[in-house]
Amino acid sequence: MRDLTEENVTEAVLEKFASTPDPRLQAVMASFIKHLHGFIRDVEPTEEEWFQGITFLTELGQMCDDVRQENILWSDTLGVSILVDSINHRRPEGASQSTVLGPFYREGAPDFENCGDIGANTEGHSTRIRGRILDFEGNPVANACLDVWQTAPNGLYEVQDPEQPEYNLRGKFYSDDNGYYELLTVAPVSYSIPTDGPVGKMLNATGVHPLRPAHVHFIVTAEGYEPVVTQLFTEGDEYLDSDAVFGVKNSLVVEYQSSSDDEEFLVNYDFVLVRSAHRQ
Ligand code: BEZ
Ligand code: FE
Repeated sequence: MRDLTEENVTEAVLEKFASTPDPRLQAVMASFIKHLHGFIRDVEPTEEEWFQGITFLTELGQMCDDVRQENILWSDTLGVSILVDSINHRRPEGASQSTVLGPFYREGAPDFENCGDIGANTEGHSTRIRGRILDFEGNPVANACLDVWQTAPNGLYEVQDPEQPEYNLRGKFYSDDNGYYELLTVAPVSYSIPTDGPVGKMLNATGVHPLRPAHVHFIVTAEGYEPVVTQLFTEGDEYLDSDAVFGVKNSLVVEYQSSSDDEEFLVNYDFVLVRSAHRQ
């Protein structure tokens, strides 16, 4: 392995990693090397450009801690997160679709009774989200857990905003014996993903906007069923077709109807779960 050239270096690197003992890791490494070398051959970066790339990766890592995950954000904004999600959750038509988790999920949200209000400490348009948890045959799923989170009307999650109480706009709800769930919150708003790091620089340099359409996040779990990590998006939002993280699916867009006294918005959505064993 000497005198390597532009023509034969890829083959030499592939050969070196060819004896990786774990077959899956071997396949992953081989594909990664091929695509990375392919990218370099395609772009033919100058040395300055390559160093700029290395600096970008360094900055991504430096922008990660307990509450900030710039690597996930990068994956989200390049459509990689939604691609990984789609590959791993090939559900039959009619089952609730998944979408990206995002970097702002927090474990340990407080339990609420049905009709509890996760927006009780937040000024905003009161919103009632309700429906049923059903299996694929239309039977109710009792005691399913809905772990819910969203931003305040200022567009910030509680972890981003020292003015909000701990676990504000986060809560766990449980379906009743007939599969019903019902929760109160405030209407979600469209908001910007964080732009104060390298991902923000990338979006700025490429002229891509950082906004997400208004949505509420859910993780729905029930014994014997595949968990669903998803979001419900607000019909009519101006960013539905240009979500910064490519997460919108038509089946997850819901209407916010005004109640007869105009006091609150009403949203109806049934979650349809598939059994854990289901694989396509
Ligand atoms: C979110 O919806 O919370 C989110 C998703 C991806 C990137 C940033 C935020
Ligand atoms: Fe979000």
